[in-house]
Amino acid sequence: MSKEIMVSGIQPTGTFTLGNYIGAVRGWARLQDEYDCAYFIADLHSLTVRMDPAQLRAQSLEAYALLLSCGLDPEKTLLFVQSHVPTHAEMGWIMSCYTQFGELSRMTQFKDKSAAHADNINAGLFTYPSLMAGDILLYQAHYVPVGEDQRQHLEITRDIAQRINSVCGDVLRVPEAYIPKTGGRVMSLQDPSKKMSKSDENTNAWITIIEDPKVIVNKFKRAVTDSEKEVVFREGKDGINNLMVIYSSVTGKTMEEIEREFEGKGYGDFKVAVGEAVAEELAPVREKYNDLMKNRDYLNEVMKKGDEAAYKISVRTLSKLKKKLGLLV
Ligand code: TRP
Repeated sequence: MSKEIMVSGIQPTGTFTLGNYIGAVRGWARLQDEYDCAYFIADLHSLTVRMDPAQLRAQSLEAYALLLSCGLDPEKTLLFVQSHVPTHAEMGWIMSCYTQFGELSRMTQFKDKSAAHADNINAGLFTYPSLMAGDILLYQAHYVPVGEDQRQHLEITRDIAQRINSVCGDVLRVPEAYIPKTGGRVMSLQDPSKKMSKSDENTNAWITIIEDPKVIVNKFKRAVTDSEKEVVFREGKDGINNLMVIYSSVTGKTMEEIEREFEGKGYGDFKVAVGEAVAEELAPVREKYNDLMKNRDYLNEVMKKGDEAAYKISVRTLSKLKKKLGLLV
């Protein structure tokens, strides 16, 4: 029996944070044996906000290398760049013809982004969910691992698929959200009520996955906690809870084990231990990334193979759909 299919994309917004790693990318790598996975750099989505072209180009290559560095294996998993696979843009157009204006108007991300970029509310920003629906439906995905912020986009994807299926028979699989078994939400090291994000001006609030080990330990030493002394997971101790979640997810220890380990010790010891554990977990990622970035030919070759394989698979769904919709084939 063939495996179930998992599809997800990530925008090339720069080096991944520890939050992207623990909450998403590391989990993707763990799913590779259980599912047939397709992961891509969602660069067409990034065009919906103005970005410096040189920066977009550099960050796309960087993001691709980062996926490989985090353990995604091109022999097992489809890894490609969205703009290199023309079926995505084509499918996106078809999807937009089956998406209602009213539906798109209700998307909270559209409302937020158009408020943030009031001088550039372009049509692509509005139809972004249609493009995303195409990305998913092209591969007949069973599951899509998405964070909370993309839930609404997955819902609209399901609605679009059902709408098209009701017009032309079952051509598209209706995907479901995949809720990871492990991971968790990593919060800012400086304000644990906020999600860790690289857009935070305070650079002590986040760490990237290729950061220098010494910097990592230092940022953890400066992490904001509370005025108590005990390392225990309890409501109201957001800073300590966050550090415990991070420590647990890199060491595999349970909360009880961590509490026992640091019984009678202070926050200082705990913060250093978390920093060192994170630095150790990320050391191979950083090493692999540095190697890959020195070997552009290899990167380009892997990318080309992924792009071609993605085209071959996705064009099947696209051709079938075009025929069903009455396009002359
Ligand atoms: N919109 C997603 C984000 O910004 C990226 C994305 C594009 C995606 N296409 C996708 C995620 C398809 C999952 C499936 O995070």
